[in-house]
Amino acid sequence: MQRGLFITLEGGEGSGKSTQIARLVANLEAAGHSVVLTREPGGSDAGEAMRDLFVAHGGASWPVAAQALLMFAARSHHTETLIKPALAQGKIVISDRYTDSTRVYQGVAGGMAADKVESIKQAAIGDFEPDMTLLLDIAPEVGLARGQGRGNDTDTTFETKTIAFHEMLRQGYLDIARNDTKRCVVIDAAQDMDAITAQILEKTLEKIKQHV
Ligand code: TYD
Repeated sequence: MQRGLFITLEGGEGSGKSTQIARLVANLEAAGHSVVLTREPGGSDAGEAMRDLFVAHGGASWPVAAQALLMFAARSHHTETLIKPALAQGKIVISDRYTDSTRVYQGVAGGMAADKVESIKQAAIGDFEPDMTLLLDIAPEVGLARGQGRGNDTDTTFETKTIAFHEMLRQGYLDIARNDTKRCVVIDAAQDMDAITAQILEKTLEKIKQHV
């Protein structure tokens, strides 16, 4: 059975992720690839309902275990009903955030022990991981200044945490990338937008070539 490719984008607040994902999808589609764009928390119908629950009830200030369990409940549904079926059809699935977000937001920065996060992960999605993760890395001061005024639905959640929290997110992401160089690619998100777009496209096309 031919299997598609699962790519995730990760990064802190204001890393330019949303713009870059839209550009990546457009570039891949223009090159004739069949792409499914999705996001977390959310993605599937029930996943989106869980996202709404998180946002409407101030999820960023919940006990961290409640945050992690909800993220993985949504992720399990998203993975089984949307991601895996699309991969089975040979599609390229691109997700705006995935498990690494829980590893750093609830784990490293939120204070949940890494082994606990991994055991919830095992229960929810087993060994399933992306084929490639693009990490948009930027200093929190720069990212947060960029993110101000974007008006998205989580402006009042993690964006308002301290710089120290965002610095932990950044280091958490960089540690994941250092420990899994086969899966993770770090992109310098302080570069100009077009340079970032070009680099992301190059890495993705390389991966597609290796995969077929
Ligand atoms: P979103 O509006 O998608 O933010 P961004 O544009 O930064 O991706 O909101 C997602 C928020 O939820 C973001 O602040 C990160 C957080 N989050 C977690 O805390 N844990 C998770 O597992 C995921 C997927 C997201």
